[in-house]
Amino acid sequence: MRSVDIIQKKRDGGELTASELTFLIDGYSRGDIPDYQMSAWAMAVFFRGMTAKETAALTLAMANSGDQVDLGPISGIKVDKHSTGGVGDKTTLILGPLVASVGVPVAKMSGRGLGHTGGTIDKLESIEGFRTELSREKFMSQVNDIGLSVIGQSGNLAPADKKLYALRDVTATVESIPLIASSVMSKKIAAGADAIVLDVKTGSGAFMKTLEDSEKLASAMVDIGTEVGRNTAAVISDMDQPLGFAIGNALEVQESIETLKGNGPEDLTELCLTLGAHMVVLGGKSDSVQSAKELLREQIRNGAALEKFKSFIAAQGGDDSIADDPARLPQAPVIVEVTSEHSGFVSAIEAEQLGLAAMILGAGRATKDAEIDYAVGVTLRKKVGDSVNAGDTLALLHVRDANDTAKEVAVKVRAAYSFSETKPEPRALLLSVITAQG
Ligand code: URA
Repeated sequence: MRSVDIIQKKRDGGELTASELTFLIDGYSRGDIPDYQMSAWAMAVFFRGMTAKETAALTLAMANSGDQVDLGPISGIKVDKHSTGGVGDKTTLILGPLVASVGVPVAKMSGRGLGHTGGTIDKLESIEGFRTELSREKFMSQVNDIGLSVIGQSGNLAPADKKLYALRDVTATVESIPLIASSVMSKKIAAGADAIVLDVKTGSGAFMKTLEDSEKLASAMVDIGTEVGRNTAAVISDMDQPLGFAIGNALEVQESIETLKGNGPEDLTELCLTLGAHMVVLGGKSDSVQSAKELLREQIRNGAALEKFKSFIAAQGGDDSIADDPARLPQAPVIVEVTSEHSGFVSAIEAEQLGLAAMILGAGRATKDAEIDYAVGVTLRKKVGDSVNAGDTLALLHVRDANDTAKEVAVKVRAAYSFSETKPEPRALLLSVITAQG
């Protein structure tokens, strides 16, 4: 087999076989196939696309390129969740305990964040004492004992994807639906769950800007899951403004606790109930999404979800008293108000700009090794559809001191808001659900 023939076949619109795709991925991983040939192939895929069969074969080749986590020692149907990323997205902190409280085991490996705010692991590390590095044995036994563990990604999951993603980043081939779908799913499959729920964001703050593209990506990922025997469902949600009110690590933990207590923001609560319901159905604990949602609502009402959160935090060495007293979380000493210069209604909030604002304050990493300040961030006081008078507070900055950086960020946050004279039509948060059954 020769790489050039495979590139040519794809260039001319042919369907590659599993052995051709494995040849490419294995050769590239070993360093036998050079970047320039992989780039040419990726560009051919960008223009020609891939069939569902090809996409699944590529995914498996990448999943097989490194470690494969065996979650076999954990009993029950293990359901993982993946979000395509968004500003203020703290769903894992809520979904883990919520879903575990009805008996669906959650054995999750999460990443640290680059850009915006931190990742789930950074958010959890804002809790004093919380450990995210556990041995595989402790990880599995904790899930068997309390139904939930979240640890930092260790080992070498889908290294071929890492190498290819870096190449795509510099060859203008990231925005290809089969390449994105196989990239995401290769890591999920290597992480070992039996079933996967995908939270696909759409809108200005998301990877996919239109509902049509988001649905195509979601379908491609659900098809891969089906092809490789992992039951997969995708929920498409709006990311035209940040999720909830809090952006910043400890601030997001605090908002997650409020949500587990039943006092969370409406959008965040609704998204968690929907994603959670799909996890419960795939985990075999309910027959319908509707009844699963009711079950989860009850777990919030009766305190079981919050109790599960506490036992999860304590099991990983964290201070679980934060659940009753969130003021024990890291707090920024200074609050700066960002006030409105306009009267009317908030018509849009650029989520990406707010993520960037939080990062500049220190809540996220501009470079891989940058330190995070857990306490800082932004809390929104106004969201889309709210009425505003000039002088009203739009958002609060949680900062170390009111220096020039804080002033710059205040300008940025103010500029992220758009206004209209009339109340904008409400946009639905949950736009579409894609499952293997259609
Ligand atoms: N996220 C991924 O993991 N891979 C992509 O290709 C795009 C986003």
